[in-house]
Amino acid sequence: IIMNHLIIINARVLTPLGTSAIAGKHMDNLLDIPYGTIEITEGIITYVGKNRPAIPEGYKILDAEGRVVLPGFIDSHTHLVFGGYRPEEFIWRMKGDSYMSIMERGGGIINTVRATREASFETLKEKAEWYIEVMSRMGVTTVEGKSGYGLDKETELKQLEVMKAINENPNRKVDIATTFLGAHAVPTEYKGKEDDYIDFLIKEMLPLIQEKKLAEHCDIFCEKGVFTVEQSRRLLQAAKDKGFGVKIHADEIVSFGGAELAGELQALSADHLLHASDAGIQAMADNHVVATLLPLTAFTLREPYARGREMIDRGCAVALATDLNPGSCCSGSIPLTFALACIYMHFSVTEAITAMTLNGAAAIGRADRIGSIEVGKQGDLVVLDAETPAILPYYTGMNAVRHTIKRGKIIY
Ligand code: NIG
Ligand code: FE
Repeated sequence: IIMNHLIIINARVLTPLGTSAIAGKHMDNLLDIPYGTIEITEGIITYVGKNRPAIPEGYKILDAEGRVVLPGFIDSHTHLVFGGYRPEEFIWRMKGDSYMSIMERGGGIINTVRATREASFETLKEKAEWYIEVMSRMGVTTVEGKSGYGLDKETELKQLEVMKAINENPNRKVDIATTFLGAHAVPTEYKGKEDDYIDFLIKEMLPLIQEKKLAEHCDIFCEKGVFTVEQSRRLLQAAKDKGFGVKIHADEIVSFGGAELAGELQALSADHLLHASDAGIQAMADNHVVATLLPLTAFTLREPYARGREMIDRGCAVALATDLNPGSCCSGSIPLTFALACIYMHFSVTEAITAMTLNGAAAIGRADRIGSIEVGKQGDLVVLDAETPAILPYYTGMNAVRHTIKRGKIIY
């Protein structure tokens, strides 16, 4: 048997199709082959279709016995490299403090910045690898990871280099798409000089990161009391001009014009969107911006969920992701994300699957390579423990994944 040669037989193959995000009512259409075969040769999918009369030699065989096989899940929004933890802030929030009031008192992101500046490269890497292992068991095969807990040259680079080192391991279980989030908060050294900080990011950090090939995308926390729409436009336009994909933390705490800006810049994605305006939703739909919803964050912040149902009905391409981070949402739970999307945002199970696979891939600029089960795409798959995909939200918060397959290798 040759490495990364795998054939899955008797699979209920369920997958969105294509190499770009799927919008609106089409999110509900998946290809459904009841007794199908998927062939993976050297890590790449080489056949998808009905079971064939004969099985070629040299392949490992996996009999799915009618179980559902999906594209590997793509968690397109996480902050998985960080130092320390913030459980005390969680307890304060449970007692009624707001996320922003904790940030204004000098806690929040800045608290993790301190811990991340102090942490060694090895500590950060081991911690991130632990999360990756946990996520891989829940079916994640690609994750997006952001910097943003350094807010200085040295530590931002350290976070990005941790992700690069993980990506260079040939036996990695998950690929990381890297995003530079130097504009995650205003560093203490720049309080009151936010524009100077944006200048520093544009003039020093973006060229350096580009030269070292440390990030594919650039993101900013566009929010009242953090960075303005004007500052966000300036940074993201500069990043876009340099060839970075652009993403934005938009309208998370208040309605602030972030979704509208994402439309104007034709960003890859706008994320959070708990308070996105009608005009913002329209701007995302018109400009093919992936609306990335993070229901675990709304859940843990006790905030109302984003208007996901309306976004789909109005023609947006919606993705789902976890937002794993030490502050607003210390969870990378894929099962709970499916449950919240279906129970509270009224997604159908198939819409949620499109949101977790192909639309997540589009949100990180990789829909040409991953996110669906089609010939030529990477052999990244999930085998569920049932013959119906309904198990995903129905097993509320419990893992419905039987196997995770990365580039044709069964890793779980
Ligand atoms: O996506 N909102 C900004 N950033 C993160 C939270 C980061 C943190 O609290 O450490 C988010 O929710
Ligand atoms: Fe985030």
